[in-house]
Amino acid sequence: MNNSDLWQQAGQLFPGGVSSPVRSFRAVADEPIPIVRAAGARLYDAEDTEYIDYIAAYGPLILGSAHPAVVAAIKEAAASGTAFGALSPGEVALGKRIRSATGLERIRFVNSGTEATMTAIRLARAVTGRDLIVKFEGCYHGHSDGLLVKAGSGVATLGLSDSAGIPAATAAGTAVVPYNDPNALKKWFEAYGDETAAVIVEPMAGNMGVIPPEGNFLEALQALPKQHGALLINDEIITGFRLQYGLSGLLPEADIVCLGKVIGGGLPVGALGGRAELLSQLAPEGPVYQAGTLSGNPLVTAAGIATLDVLQKDGIYDRIEELAQHLENGLGTAIRRSKATASVVRRGSLLSIFFRPTPPCNYSEASDCDLTNFARFHKAMLSRGIMLAPSQFEAWFVSAAHTEADIDQTVQAAAAAFREVSHPPIAERSEK
Ligand SMILES: Cc1ncc(COP(=O)(O)O)c(C=O)c1O
Repeated sequence: MNNSDLWQQAGQLFPGGVSSPVRSFRAVADEPIPIVRAAGARLYDAEDTEYIDYIAAYGPLILGSAHPAVVAAIKEAAASGTAFGALSPGEVALGKRIRSATGLERIRFVNSGTEATMTAIRLARAVTGRDLIVKFEGCYHGHSDGLLVKAGSGVATLGLSDSAGIPAATAAGTAVVPYNDPNALKKWFEAYGDETAAVIVEPMAGNMGVIPPEGNFLEALQALPKQHGALLINDEIITGFRLQYGLSGLLPEADIVCLGKVIGGGLPVGALGGRAELLSQLAPEGPVYQAGTLSGNPLVTAAGIATLDVLQKDGIYDRIEELAQHLENGLGTAIRRSKATASVVRRGSLLSIFFRPTPPCNYSEASDCDLTNFARFHKAMLSRGIMLAPSQFEAWFVSAAHTEADIDQTVQAAAAAFREVSHPPIAERSEK
């Protein structure tokens, strides 16, 4: 079966032909590439074409695909049962590793990042007895109703500001403030501080492209909720165990931390954690209900433990940092030489190319990019065997499986792709 056959069949089965919207390649006006297998930093489609992978399953695959230690751990766990519906040693072992790396006193495992943030908000509302939540424009925290307001990731990719089907009363419980704007947050708290249950934030935004925190933003985040009796929810679902082993360190005083992606080694996972007295409000110890048939699943915890074990080995984050730095430098040079109107932003293994002259500092600037040029760039990279997420708003993920040669190949492809974007062929120019 070839790529197009599979895509046609998927179109008859799934809305938009996919199980998650960004995978549809709509934002780059292309047909998606079905992936049949993956190894390390390589993806292979249904026609056995090979790609260097920077999607990394949108973040979990910090070791690349099918890392031998992770595969062995999953196989071994599977042979002893794929789900127990009971406490299992894998949960305890992964929980202990996360606790010792993050300082989170109590942890609840769930199946996705969406569940983690949804539960964090329920918990914050319960302990504060307040209803209002503050989020930041362009930050994405999963697809629960109250958090799909001016969200990044697929919502931004599809040009939506909110999702249909969310009750007005639910949306009204979420206030949206610009990212990197401490004054706007201060004004919110001056007006509604005593009604606000929590502020939820990505400490470094990764769902409107990579936008690091600037100025006093992080200080304001740590101070203002506390001053007004609200909680701070730190969404480290992308950044946790990716920027370094443990939490990013950007918001050390958060009350609740959400994790996901890397801690599940490529299997479905989420977690929330915090102080014992706070997390003990969750059922069955406390009155805040949350549950999951497959939560703490033994295959997931085995994959997570194996991943964290490899990540604890000496020098792995340094190596990823070197590769990512090399990529950033190469892309920067390619942009300058091609005179493309683009900028590159990188923190650790997260990177974005923005088709605007300077890096954005918030969602309004991130959406003011030339998305047509991004789509051209994406196509040009794909034709050279480089698989980028099909959206300007998704980060590139560098993994420990990339090699210097992969990065060189990517930079060479990008140099040609930037030239194509800045100097489109005559036929394409005259079409406009
Ligand atoms: C920062 C952040 N929070 C939450 C989520 C939701 O996680 P999931 O897709 O596992 O539900 C994502 C997903 O990309 C994310 O990037």
